[in-house]
Amino acid sequence: MSRIAYVNGRYLPHAEASVHVEDRGFQFSDGVYEVFAVAHGALIDEELHLVRLARSLAELRIAKPHTDAVLKHLFREVLRRNRVRNGMLYLQITRGAAPRDHAFPKDVRPTVVITAKPARLADPAIAARGVDVVTIPDIRWRRVDIKSVSLLPNVLGKQHAKEAGAYEAWMVTEAGEVTEGTSTNAWIVTKYGALVTRKADTSILNGITRLTVLRLAREHDLAIEERSFTLSEALDAAEAFLTSTTSYVMPVVRINGKLVGGGTPGTFTRKLLAEYRSYVAR
Ligand code: PDD
Repeated sequence: MSRIAYVNGRYLPHAEASVHVEDRGFQFSDGVYEVFAVAHGALIDEELHLVRLARSLAELRIAKPHTDAVLKHLFREVLRRNRVRNGMLYLQITRGAAPRDHAFPKDVRPTVVITAKPARLADPAIAARGVDVVTIPDIRWRRVDIKSVSLLPNVLGKQHAKEAGAYEAWMVTEAGEVTEGTSTNAWIVTKYGALVTRKADTSILNGITRLTVLRLAREHDLAIEERSFTLSEALDAAEAFLTSTTSYVMPVVRINGKLVGGGTPGTFTRKLLAEYRSYVAR
C-alpha cells in the first residue's frame, strides 16, 4: 500500500508530495512541528499536543491555519488513508511560501503537512536493557521551549550519539547542568528516592510525555523535584531515564560510559514505564 501525505488541502502519494522551493520552513526553519504517538488507532495526549502547537505558533506569530476540530479531522483522515493503527503522526506548519526576505511576508498562507507511518514505539527489548547516553555542550538558542523545526544542534548531537554507539546525547550547559536530550527530556532518581527533571522554562522543550509522567508520578505519591540537575549529580544518581513520544520512558544505564545505579533499569524507572504503558493501552 502506498503512503499518503497531506499537503495544504490535498492528499498526495508520499513520493509526489512537496512544498514550494521558497517555503520559509525550507529557507529559514520558520515553522513548528508536533510528533504524535498512535496506539491502537488513538492519538496519545492529542489535546496536550494541540495546546503546545498553539503556543509554538503564537510565539512565532504564525496564524493558526485550522481550528483544533479541523486538525483532528485531518489527523484521522491521514491515519485512515495510511492504515496506521500503531505508529506516529507528524505535523508541520510553516509560515508559508514567499520571496526570500527575513522579515515576515504579508498575506502569506501557512504551509501544512501531515504524514503518518507505522512504527514500533519504545521497543520493549531495548527498554528492558536500558540505553547509553553521552553528553555534549548545549549550543542551542535560548527559546528551545518553542517546538520549531530549527533543529541543527539536535541533529548534530544525535549523530554524535549514534557515532558513539549511544541512544541519545544529553546537552549540558556551561554551568554543568543537564538540560535535555536532542529529542527527549532527561530525568534522574536521587539516592533519596526523589524524581528530578528540569523545570519547564525556556531552556527545554516541555515534553508531553514529561507532563504525563509527572502526572502519573504525582498520582502515585512519588517525591518530585522540578529543578535543574548537574551532570555530576546524574552520574551519582540511583537511576536515570529519558522520555519522549517515541521512546516513552526509556531507562538510561550508562552516561559517558559510566554505569548509573547498578547498570540495569532502576525500580522507579520500571514502575513509571509500566504506568505509562498502561496509560497508553487505556
Ligand atoms: N522530540 N526535547 C526535545 C528537544 C524534543 O525534540 C522532544 C520531542 C522532547 C520530548 O517531547 P515529547 O514528550 O512531547 O515527545 C524533548 C520529538 C519526538 C521528535 O523531534 O521526534
